[in-house]
Amino acid sequence: MQARNPSDSYTMMTEIVLPNDTNVFGNLMGGRLMYWMDIAAAIAAQRHCNAPVVTASVDNISFENPIKLGNTVHIEAKVSRAFNTSMEVHLKVWGEDFTQQFKYKSNEAYYTFVALDPNRRPRVVPPLTPETEEEKRLYEGALHRRQVRLILGGKMKPDEAAELKALFFTKHD
Ligand SMILES: CC(C)(COP(=O)(O)OP(=O)(O)OC[C@H]1O[C@@H](n2cnc3c(N)ncnc32)[C@H](O)[C@@H]1OP(=O)(O)O)[C@@H](O)C(=O)NCCC(=O)NCCS
Repeated sequence: MQARNPSDSYTMMTEIVLPNDTNVFGNLMGGRLMYWMDIAAAIAAQRHCNAPVVTASVDNISFENPIKLGNTVHIEAKVSRAFNTSMEVHLKVWGEDFTQQFKYKSNEAYYTFVALDPNRRPRVVPPLTPETEEEKRLYEGALHRRQVRLILGGKMKPDEAAELKALFFTKHD
């Protein structure tokens, strides 16, 4: 399978925060934002593998700054690493206040998707070749993040997480 670059999956989604998207404080609800993020990330994953995908997991999301009613939301999504049948997608979210003319970071997150074949079984995806320094940094870190999420999801025994263990222990003969 021919390798693809993160730029092949680049996806930018732009939304405006309307009254029905807000909580009682007039800020964008976290659940609505996560819904938009899921869609942007799924589009990025599908652009990478040219196949339908399902969300396998969502890493922890911290909402650093609230996005206010009437502000614009920008969600950038790119595949940060492809494994066998799964892909990690990195997302960055900003709010934009048109009246005051400034942009502010809201949050950053990682979503994992699995590509499915017509029988709804996981199918192999193309490898990813990072290009920029940031893409290379995200690619390297993805192996550790994958092991953490598989351990938390009960899909991997902590003993099997070789790269994670190597961060904490040196090898003795
Ligand atoms: C995600 C799903 C396809 C995995 O299927 P599975 O039968 O467990 O398949 P496998 O164990 O062979 O794993 C397939 C891939 O999923 C990855 N995976 C499984 N659980 C995962 C998790 N919790 N987090 C991250 N990746 C996960 C595996 O690492 C593997 O990736 P790899 O091939 O790149 O190594 C399946 O659990 C599913 O369909 N879940 C529901 C998805 C869904 O409906 N999402 C919408 C939210 S309701």
